[in-house]
Amino acid sequence: MKNIIILVSGGGTNLQALIDAEKSGGIQGGKITCVISSNPDAYALERAKNNGIKTRVIPRKDYTDSVSYSHEILAALNEEKADLVVLAGFMTILDQCVTKAYAYKIINVHPALIPSFCGEGFYGLKVHKAALDYGVKVSGATIHFVNEKADAGAVILQGTVDIKPDDTPEVLQRRIMENVEWKLLPKAVSLFCQDKIEIRDGKAYVRE
Ligand code: GAR
Repeated sequence: MKNIIILVSGGGTNLQALIDAEKSGGIQGGKITCVISSNPDAYALERAKNNGIKTRVIPRKDYTDSVSYSHEILAALNEEKADLVVLAGFMTILDQCVTKAYAYKIINVHPALIPSFCGEGFYGLKVHKAALDYGVKVSGATIHFVNEKADAGAVILQGTVDIKPDDTPEVLQRRIMENVEWKLLPKAVSLFCQDKIEIRDGKAYVRE
């Protein structure tokens, strides 16, 4: 059984999707053993506690830079004996001390079709505003491995939604979460825990 550690910063709807998937047998070969938040007030912490999952808070604001913060995260992941780390709405970019130690063991959900609308500065509603400002006709979400560059690791799964003429960033965000993120993130986690994701030449391939 793989230990799944989930990193969060906010509302935690993706965390909830993972908890629900685990409860209904949708995550084979893994168990959510700890939720770590960068934000002491994140509602995601309540979701974890309501489901009897261990929580830890490592506040980003207590650290002056990303490197010192990342060392603290690395120590926590090692203590928790993480086999898989999931960034589920985690709004801090991790330094390479973490991404190298956990190469191809960190999965992120990004709310756009990478390589569009991604990289540093593209997070949360900003991503959806950028997609609407550009005028693209489809958007979606990407589940990918995390490497040294923001949103640049191997893509595992992607899903799309149509954009409608009167969409706001909030409406589009909700449509992408419901139709793509909450389904594909648990699916990718389950595939990982069953060793069904292979890496060849830096690309991820799923064995279904
Ligand atoms: C989700 O839409 C997730 O894709 C996005 O933030 C939201 C978190 O929601 N993540 C990023 O933008 C990371 N770059 P949640 O806290 O309800 O899961």
